[in-house]
Amino acid sequence: MPQVKLVAELPEHAEGVEAVLARAFGPGRFAKTSERVREGGAMAAPRLSRVALSGEGQVIGVCRIWRVSAGSPCYFMGPLAVDPVARSQGLGLALARDATAACRASGEIGGIIVVGAEKFFAPLGFTAAPKGRLLLPGPVNPARLLWLELRPGGLDKVQGLIA
Ligand SMILES: CC(C)(COP(=O)(O)OP(=O)(O)OC[C@H]1O[C@@H](n2cnc3c(N)ncnc32)[C@H](O)[C@@H]1OP(=O)(O)O)[C@@H](O)C(=O)NCCC(=O)NCCS
Repeated sequence: MPQVKLVAELPEHAEGVEAVLARAFGPGRFAKTSERVREGGAMAAPRLSRVALSGEGQVIGVCRIWRVSAGSPCYFMGPLAVDPVARSQGLGLALARDATAACRASGEIGGIIVVGAEKFFAPLGFTAAPKGRLLLPGPVNPARLLWLELRPGGLDKVQGLIA
């Protein structure tokens, strides 16, 4: 998209991000199992998270990254949201791709977990986590529990409850 910039999340984006999330998910947002993970001690990683800014500097999309632990440290991606007016132009995938690249470049942690549609995340290399390998603090459709290795063997020790 012309003029749209993807940048690391800063405190000044907070209000715009909240507005995008409210428009994308509505009040049901806080009932999601992923939200239980984020509340349960996940550490926000704003330098790895990405915000999309319009030419006017408005926040029009976001992809957040968190540090979590599931037996071993891991990244957790989400929420991912794009304003309705800016959808279907590749921005959602671009945000997720940029955040994934930032995680990989950090070199700290071996993999990323996300709850989402496999079809959407497959171009970035995400696949369904092996059945029963991961547990979330709430119900989740196992087909939507995806992960991505950032380096060979990076997810070997990741298993159990994501907390
Ligand atoms: C999902 C979302 C971030 C995609 O943003 P986007 O900028 O439109 O994404 P892209 O343009 O890169 O890709 C669009 C494609 O993603 C796919 N897609 C969009 N939403 C999807 C969903 N919920 N499930 C599966 N695939 C989806 C479609 O194939 C779409 O193609 P189309 O526009 O031709 O129908 C956006 O639709 C959104 O904010 N939705 C509400 C919040 C949400 O559901 N977030 C995802 C949680 S993992």
